[in-house]
Amino acid sequence: MRPPTATTRLCAVFGYPIRHSLSPVLFNAAFEACSLDWVHLAFEVDEAGLADAFAAVRTLPIGGANLTMPLKTAAVELLDEVSDAARALAAVNCVVNDTGRLIGHNTDGDGFVDSLRAAGVDPAGLRCVVLGAGGAARSVIRALGGAGASEIVVVNRTATKAEAAATLAGERARAGGAADLAGAQLVVNATSVGMGTRELPIDPALLAPHHVVADLVYHPIDTALLAAARARGATTLDGVGMLVHQAARAFSLWTGLAAPIDQMMAAARARLVP
Ligand code: ATR
Repeated sequence: MRPPTATTRLCAVFGYPIRHSLSPVLFNAAFEACSLDWVHLAFEVDEAGLADAFAAVRTLPIGGANLTMPLKTAAVELLDEVSDAARALAAVNCVVNDTGRLIGHNTDGDGFVDSLRAAGVDPAGLRCVVLGAGGAARSVIRALGGAGASEIVVVNRTATKAEAAATLAGERARAGGAADLAGAQLVVNATSVGMGTRELPIDPALLAPHHVVADLVYHPIDTALLAAARARGATTLDGVGMLVHQAARAFSLWTGLAAPIDQMMAAARARLVP
């Protein structure tokens, strides 16, 4: 990486905790690959400090910011403008600084769809089951609806949350249960089950060779769900895809350039537990 100079443009990720964030790794790899005189750093910011952090973005100025836990929802009311996706999801993961005007976006869902397409899976016309109804699941449900999935069944431990999340994709989405897996083509784990453990979000006996199983969990990369799905003959996609593609969309919003996906992917994989 080139040393920063007086002309280097700063981008940042804000969150709490933040020391485990992969964002600086991803974005600095991207800036380097594109020979951009930009640098990306992580800052510990909690909800109480978010308004001040946005003031700093305007003043310094910081070129763009990523938001992670616990700031995504609080940001919606603090920005000058938010995208339709961020508004619908009540969550901002990326801020663009347009000469002092701060615009909030949510690139998670579209990043997930990008990761599917990059793997040769077009969600248009697919019957999908999304496991989970939290922030990640909601972004995926909305984006799958926007990408033309024919059916989106939301399966969640807490049924009321599944019903609320299903409204994000209109008529083609509904809450359901494990029995809906048989008819699905795409199964997405958007729960946190399997993060740092070998737990499974569903009974793997429900998986079959006709399934594409995508896990949003990327720690470890090869989750117990993905290993079980492979053993059942299913096609699998790991969580590094969405991690990289949501960041790639942020990179493009900030720089106006196509993101160097391969270099970002390599940088992420080098830092993660296989
Ligand atoms: P994120 O922002 O990463 O999506 P989240 O909003 O906290 O995180 O959502 C976590 C999701 O994982 C939820 O769907 C949660 O189910 P509930 O809505 O019932 O809480 C799901 N989840 C977490 N731990 C779980 C577990 N042990 N078994 C089943 N689902 C679990």
